[in-house]
Formats: sequence, structure tokens, C-alpha cells
Amino acid sequence: IRIPQDRIRAEKNGYPHFMLKEIFEQPLVVRRILSTVNKNRDELQIEDIKSIDISWEKIKKVFIVACGTSYHAGYYAKFLWEEELPYFIEVELASQMHHRNLRVPDETLFITISQSGETADVISTLRKVKEKGFKVLSLVNNPQSTVARESDYFINLRAGIEIGVAATKTFMAELVYLGLLKEYVKNKLYKVKIDLDKWNMLPTYLENYLSNIKDQVFETAKKYYQKKNFLYLARGRNFPLALEGALKLKEISYIHAEGIPAGEMKHGPIALLDPETPVFGIAYKDDAYSKMINNLEEAKARRAPIIAIGNEKDKKLENLVDDLIPVPNIDPFYYPYMGVMVLQLFAYYVADLLGREIDQPRNLAKSVTVE
Ligand code: G6P
Repeated sequence: IRIPQDRIRAEKNGYPHFMLKEIFEQPLVVRRILSTVNKNRDELQIEDIKSIDISWEKIKKVFIVACGTSYHAGYYAKFLWEEELPYFIEVELASQMHHRNLRVPDETLFITISQSGETADVISTLRKVKEKGFKVLSLVNNPQSTVARESDYFINLRAGIEIGVAATKTFMAELVYLGLLKEYVKNKLYKVKIDLDKWNMLPTYLENYLSNIKDQVFETAKKYYQKKNFLYLARGRNFPLALEGALKLKEISYIHAEGIPAGEMKHGPIALLDPETPVFGIAYKDDAYSKMINNLEEAKARRAPIIAIGNEKDKKLENLVDDLIPVPNIDPFYYPYMGVMVLQLFAYYVADLLGREIDQPRNLAKSVTVE
């Protein structure tokens, strides 16, 4: 599979690969998205979202459908939205939708997420649910794409053209828009003010974090890049991000990696642990923390090397794991976005050390137009 010529015009800006360039563009993408948010704190307005005339108070269920990385963004949003919005939220892979007998209330809103807007399974789901009379809101990075055109409502992800086959900045844009959409709905339903200052700090935090952490992530990659299997462990809302970390590593390094909900280790995956199988844990100080620590202790008892993303002041975690990749001691709101960049960078450096074709990994395509 070759990159079309017109795309090659987008330059690498001195980066060895488009993927690395796109990872480093993420703060900019977030800044661009936030520039579409108004400054009026009573009624939150977001340029793309204001034309979406959904009766949010009438919705009973939100059904999110996507593939690959976009599915992970949707899965993350399920946790995020459920914490604060009154909906039952379901997430499904678009390829699985072919085999589902849809039994949902009439007041169900479908959300499809697709960076390309051309993924065949997403398109067929979109058409199927529209045929049944449901409304579909889509988050897409290409306004001309089929998904964007055929959806009832559409949010342009504004990530700019993404050339690396492994999605990075479009994932970030999906996470940010899904977060903002949650704030928007919360504002509509409960008239609560949204803390825009917190959001507006995000690009700067991400920018600083990337430059502070990249060398450490590279050094960590150097320690582990010859391993053949990785397990990514997390709980709760961090689990979809563990899935994304594992997917990134698989896609571009061809190393086998699995994302596992840490609580499920005891039901099978723990049998895989040995000194040759690194565990990559996400262990922020959040409501899942103490259980995550237990899981990492179990892994250590099986002599698995442990890498973890966690708080910089967390001595307990630091003593437990082999390599702690710290997030600064700030509002936990920022952690998922920071952690995602660590996972992307780790996969990138491992693949680079292995000399892989990072921007065009074997057997993969930027958009999959067959079912
Ligand atoms: C392909 C790409 C992935 C992407 C998935 C879904 O497999 O290689 O990076 O996550 O398709 O793509 P979409 O365009 O629907 O987000």
C-alpha cells in the first residue's frame, strides 16, 4: 500500500516519520479545537456543536459505534459520560453491529466515530440505524467523507491531515471532542457552568509534558524493545486507553500486545506472566488506584518487569515498578491526555528501534473500505 502522491506534500517538518510529527502536533490540535469554544461561561457554545439540535433531555440511551482506535475513544467516553450524564451508554465495534439484533428505545442517539469517515463497517452501521429511523451524530476528521455526509449531525475533528497509518492526533481530537460534548450536554441539561480555564490549560500542559517526557520514554523503549509480548493493564476508564496502547504497539512494532482489564488477570492472563513478559500499567491516583497496585504486585510476584504511568510523587508505585513514567502532580483531569501520548511515544520508539516501517506498517491501511 502506497501513500498517495498528493499526501506526500504534507511535510515531515524535520521529523523522521509522520507519526512522530503527528504525536507532537497534538497540543496544537487541542488548541485549535478549544478555539472553537466560546468564552461565555453561562451557556457553553462550541462552533461545530451549536448546530446540533438534539433534544438532549429526551434521550434515554446513547449508542457509540466505531472501529480500531476510534472505538477506544468511544469506549473511554462511555466511562466519562456515565459519570455525569443521565444516559445508559453502550459502545460496540462497528464490525459486530452486523450481528446485533438492535433492541434499543426509540429515544436512542447513535454516535459514530471515524477519523477517515470511510470505514466500511461504520458506514453500513450508519445506514442500518438511519433506516430504522434513528438519528446519528458523527465525529469525523474529513468533512467530505461518506460518514460525515450521511450523518444527521457531524463534528469535524479538526486534527488536520493524518498520514501515519496508526492514528494518534485524530485519537486525541476524538477524546477532546467527546469530553467537550459531555460538558456541553451537562451545561444544557443542568445549566452548570463549565470550567473552561481547566480546558484552556490543556494544550500548554501537553506541550510541556511531551518535551519533558520524550527522552525518558525513549530510554524505557530501549530497555524493552526486544521483548516479544506485552500486557497493558488498567482499570475503569483507563482500560480503553490500555487497549489503545497495546494496539499502537501491535500496529507499528509487530510485537504481540494485549490490553487487559487488570481485574481479569486472575481469570487467565496471569498465566502468561514471566520475566520475559513486560507489564505496562496505568496507575494514576484515582478511584482504581489501590486495586491497580494489588494487580501490579501480583505481576511483580511473577517476576514480570513492570513499566507504569503514574503520579510523580507516588513513592509506593515508584518502589514497586521497574520504570515509572510520571505525570506531574496536577489535576487528574489532564492525566488521560498525557498518558495517551506516553503510550504513543513508547510504541513509536520501540518500532523505530526495531527498524519498522512506521508510517506504513505491513498489512494495514489508513482506512478500511471493505467489511
Ligand atoms: C484502520 C486504521 C486504524 C483506525 C481504524 C478505524 O484500521 O489503520 O488506525 O483506527 O481503521 O478507522 P476510522 O477511520 O474509522 O477511525
